[in-house]
Amino acid sequence: MSDWTKSGWRAKPRIQMPDYTDEAELKAVEAQLAKYPPLVFAGEARRLKEQLGAASRGEAFLLQGGDCAESFEQFSADAIRDTFKVMLQMAMVLTYGAKVPVVKVGRMAGQFAKPRSAPTEVVDGVELPSYRGDIINELDFTPEARIPDPRKMLQAYTQAAATLNLLRAFSTGGYADVHQVHSWTLGFTEGEKAARYREMAGRISDTLDFMKAAGVDSSNSSSLRTVSFYTSHEALLLEYEEALTRVDSTSGNWLAGSGHMLWIGDRTRQPDGAHVEFLSGVLNPIGLKCGPTMEADDLKRLLGKLNPQNEAGRLTLITRFGAGNVGEHLPRLIRTVKEEGANVLWVCDPMHGNTIKSGTGYKTRPFDSVLREVREFFAVHKAEGTVPGGVHFEMTGQDVTECTGGVRAVTEENLSDRYHTACDPRLNASQSLELAFLVAEELTSLRDEKQAAAV
Ligand code: PEP
Ligand code: CO
Repeated sequence: MSDWTKSGWRAKPRIQMPDYTDEAELKAVEAQLAKYPPLVFAGEARRLKEQLGAASRGEAFLLQGGDCAESFEQFSADAIRDTFKVMLQMAMVLTYGAKVPVVKVGRMAGQFAKPRSAPTEVVDGVELPSYRGDIINELDFTPEARIPDPRKMLQAYTQAAATLNLLRAFSTGGYADVHQVHSWTLGFTEGEKAARYREMAGRISDTLDFMKAAGVDSSNSSSLRTVSFYTSHEALLLEYEEALTRVDSTSGNWLAGSGHMLWIGDRTRQPDGAHVEFLSGVLNPIGLKCGPTMEADDLKRLLGKLNPQNEAGRLTLITRFGAGNVGEHLPRLIRTVKEEGANVLWVCDPMHGNTIKSGTGYKTRPFDSVLREVREFFAVHKAEGTVPGGVHFEMTGQDVTECTGGVRAVTEENLSDRYHTACDPRLNASQSLELAFLVAEELTSLRDEKQAAAV
């Protein structure tokens, strides 16, 4: 839209954003950030958009995953490497099963700001403002820790830059070389799925050996030696986003420079609100979370506002209804999208509709519910003749105990063992791999049916 400006969101109603008390400090931080280089380049965002367009047609598949909230305290090279490694493993399982390229997008290098269900939190009769992510305030339950501090944006930027730097190094420096498929196995992913992974890795190595013997030397092929890995986060803290938004000199369009793909959360998707206004004007591919309260009228307006040119790959609808609710909500949203003739990529987030409080007081997600929502997502798309184009997970390469269930079953009693998330419960490495095998099975049967229908 020609009258869009990067600060136009300021005139719209905003929710889920902090009220900074020190205006001068906030302005100083914004000015500082505006001088820093963007983290991503417009050409990368355009390339991702093309790949997401392919996924919307069933010619690729999106794997999006990472922390619910990145944390300053848990920031480490090992944590980044392990999440990257599990995503490579999962992508390999999916590629092998689906026989289409897997587009890899981390909830990483910028996933700091969190929307909350309540503005305050009460513990033992004491009420304090809610924790809103390390880019805004601190998790400690003290009045000082909960004051929003704009300087945290600078620390978040630095951490995002360092994270992205390491991800880029892993992606192109040899670590992600498919010839290393065996070495991505994590020490603690023993058990049935790990054995299945090793068996698949063995078959891939055999194929590479066979190709080499037949004179096709794959060791110099850049598509086998490197991967494209993209970053994404919820664009919630608009002061941060605006400060990193820059003109793309090639096209004259605006790029949100904080990450490749940005999404709008289920709580901040008001068609006339600040978040929709901001994201409507940037060239990046964008995501829109769709929960059970998404109505047809709002969806229509959002489709028009967020993708007026109806560009393929521009808009990803990330549905998160909860197991047992997909059949009630997904078909009606699919119908609306069909009526509008809109190009969208359908992605399943089986995490955010399945959060419960365990008997032991922890926020958790039963692995069975996660699996069930994924299955329901595939079944509905099959019935509607639409493309299930990707999955969106909260996961980590660390061996945490945050979601219950899985082959190496985490029980409610185990949750306290290694519960490290700063926000929502994540799948651990073993649960993530197990899920990848399930998704691969769904994709394989989809492919088999398509082939059977074609003959
Ligand atoms: C999230 O992705 O962490 C999140 C808060 O999701 P939603 O907006 O779908 O609730
Ligand atoms: Co979350």
